Amino acid sequence: MEKFDSDFLWGASSSAFQIEGGWNEDGKGESVADYNSFVHAGPEQADTKVASDFYHHYREDISLMKELGLKVYRFSIAWSRIIPDGDGQVNQKGIDFYNKVIDCLIKNGIEPFVTLYHFDLPLALVEKYNGWENRSCISAFRRYAQICFKEFGDRVKNWQVINEQNLMVRVDERLNMYHVEAKNKERVRAQMDYNMFVASAYVMQDCHKMMPNGKIGPAISSTMTYPASTKPLDVWAAKMNDNFKTNYALEMYCHGQYPGYYSNYLKKVGILPSMQDQDEQVLRDARPDFIAVNYYRTLVASYLPSDAKHPFGTRKNDVDFDLYGYFKIEKNTNLSATEYGAQIDPIGLRIVLNEYYRQFRLPMIITENGLGTPDIMAKDGKIHDQYRINYLADHIRACYDAIQDGVKLIGYCPWSVMDLLSSHQGFKKRYGFIYVNRTDNDLKDLRRIPKDSFYWYQKVITNKGLVN
Ligand code: BG6
Repeated sequence: MEKFDSDFLWGASSSAFQIEGGWNEDGKGESVADYNSFVHAGPEQADTKVASDFYHHYREDISLMKELGLKVYRFSIAWSRIIPDGDGQVNQKGIDFYNKVIDCLIKNGIEPFVTLYHFDLPLALVEKYNGWENRSCISAFRRYAQICFKEFGDRVKNWQVINEQNLMVRVDERLNMYHVEAKNKERVRAQMDYNMFVASAYVMQDCHKMMPNGKIGPAISSTMTYPASTKPLDVWAAKMNDNFKTNYALEMYCHGQYPGYYSNYLKKVGILPSMQDQDEQVLRDARPDFIAVNYYRTLVASYLPSDAKHPFGTRKNDVDFDLYGYFKIEKNTNLSATEYGAQIDPIGLRIVLNEYYRQFRLPMIITENGLGTPDIMAKDGKIHDQYRINYLADHIRACYDAIQDGVKLIGYCPWSVMDLLSSHQGFKKRYGFIYVNRTDNDLKDLRRIPKDSFYWYQKVITNKGLVN
C-alpha cells in the first residue's frame, strides 16, 4: 500500500483565464489569453468570456474543494484584473475578488498556492511595447508582483512566478508575436525569454524580502525524451531535446546562467539577447525554494542534421519543435496516447522527478498532471470517468516510487480541480474532478457535478495514498 507522509500536499490546480470567466467584469483589462481565445472562438470552440464561471461560483466551488478534501489549491491571479493595462492604475475590485477567494479558501481549511502569471499578459503591454520584448515589462511585472505580495502575502505563503515560461515562449500566440516579422522571430523570442528570466529573478528576491516566510519557485513544463534508437547521435538528440525545452530554463532559474550548450547555440544562430551588466548578479541571487513540475507525457527524438534547405538552428513547429542540427520529434510506438495525442507514460514521471532532484536538489511539487478527454454524462446523470482514475492512479504510484528513490516531492496537484477551458482546445477537452455542465457553444446551467474521479480522489486523500 503506497502511503504518503501526513504532511504531503494533496491538491488540485487551475488558472485564471481558464476557469474564471467575467473576462471584462469589474474593471478587468483584456489579456493576451482573452485575445487569442477570441481569435479561435466559434461554434466548435469556447472562449474565456464565461469559461467555468468561477468568478460567480467561487463559494460553491470552494465548498466542493473542501468536500474533495484538498489541502492546497493552486490557482493563478489575472494580472489584468489587478492592473487592467499592466502597468497603470490598480483596480481595487480585482484585489477585492482575490481577497474573497483567498479568505474563503482559508475558511475552508485549504491553503492557497498562487501563480502570478499563467499565459495571460495584459494585452495593453503588447500594444504599448510588444510585451516581454521590452525591458519595461520587467518593471511592470515586478510592480504587479509586489502589489500581490503586499495585498495577499499575509495569507498566501506559497507562490509560483511564471507558469511554464519554457513552453509559453515556444508558442507565438502566447506572447502575441503576430506583428513580429518572420526573420526576427527567433531573436525576439530569445529576448522575451531572457527578460522573463530577469523578471522572475527580481520577483523571487522581492518575495523573500517582503515575506520572510514566503516560498517561491518557477513552474516548468517538464520534458522527458527517449532516444529513437541506441545510435549515439539519437541518444544525444534526446538529451538535447530535454536541454533545449526545459533544462536550460531550470539552470537559469536555479543557477542564474545559461548553460554552455545553450549560449553557444544562441551565439551561433546570432540571437543572443541583449543583456545589462546588473542582470548577472540579479540572476545569480534569485533563490527558488522549490521547483513546481507540470507533467503530462513523454517524447521521443532522433538526430536531425541541418541541410542546404534547413540551416543549423532552423526551428519547425511550436510546442514540440524540431531543431535542425539537433533533434526531431518522433512517435513512441510503445505507448498509448490520449485522443489529443499526448503519450501516456507514468514511468516517465518517476524518471523526470529523479533527474530534476539529482540536478537541482530542491523540493518539488507537481502542479499539473492530468488526462484531457471529452466526458459523457451517463443516463444516470453521472460521469463515470474510470479512464481518468486509471491515469491518475498510475501517476500517483510513480510519485510514490520517486519518493522511495529519495526524491523530495512535497505535493501533488493534478490538472484540474474542475472542468475548465483548455489552453487552446475549447471546453470539450476536460480534465476536472468536477463536471461543469456546459459545452463549447451552449452555456446550459453551468451546474457542477462531481465525477467518479472526485469520489475516488477524496478516498486517496483521506487514505493518504492509493486504496488498492
Ligand atoms: C499546461 C498549461 O501546459 O497544460 C495549462 O499550464 C493547460 O494551462 C494544460 O491547460 C493542458 O493543456 P491543454 O492545452 O490541454 O489545455
